[in-house]
Amino acid sequence: MEEGARVLYTEDAIQQRVGELAAEISRDYAGRDPILVSVLKGAAWFLADLMKATTITCRMDFMAISSYGGAEESMGVVRILQDLELDIGGHHVILVEDIVDTGLTLSYLLSTLSSREPASISVCALLDKSVRRIAPVEIRYRGFDCPDRFVVGYGLDYAERYRNLRCILEVDPQELEEDPLALVPHLRRPS
Ligand code: PRP
Repeated sequence: MEEGARVLYTEDAIQQRVGELAAEISRDYAGRDPILVSVLKGAAWFLADLMKATTITCRMDFMAISSYGGAEESMGVVRILQDLELDIGGHHVILVEDIVDTGLTLSYLLSTLSSREPASISVCALLDKSVRRIAPVEIRYRGFDCPDRFVVGYGLDYAERYRNLRCILEVDPQELEEDPLALVPHLRRPS
């Protein structure tokens, strides 16, 4: 399996890009004291590094969601399991995502959060799987345009595992199903 896993983004490449995005955000939001909003769980890694690299005052908050089944799921309708603690009304919001795939989750969240009348709302996503897009969404800050592959690491999981990889790997989910521990060597060495 190890041969089947390929490093798509190294730890250094991720950290460098995160630094660049944080610099852009720091420039654009100077004096605007934005609230960085993330959806648990995958985006927590990116949010933490992004926030650490900013040079402006900002706050963070989290939401937890789950998809409805059936037709609602295919329309991207989500249920809010844990709502924001902060009131975003009148404040500048940056929605921070680890990955945008179909865009359905993001477009639903954008409409939900917009109804709370923030001063502005923009999106920062580390990975943009643009070829998979169903719902058009504007991503103002984009880390990487990601190929249509199964990816794990840096918050992204396979069956809840491998979020703690410091790089992002492209993997074959079939092979991981056969051997769920196949990526352990990647956990033990820097990549
Ligand atoms: C990922 C990601 C987005 C969503 C994007 O979360 O964080 O919320 O999928 O997919 P979409 O563009 O097709 O709607 P996931 O459901 O994997 O949950 P997790 O962050 O807890 O791993």
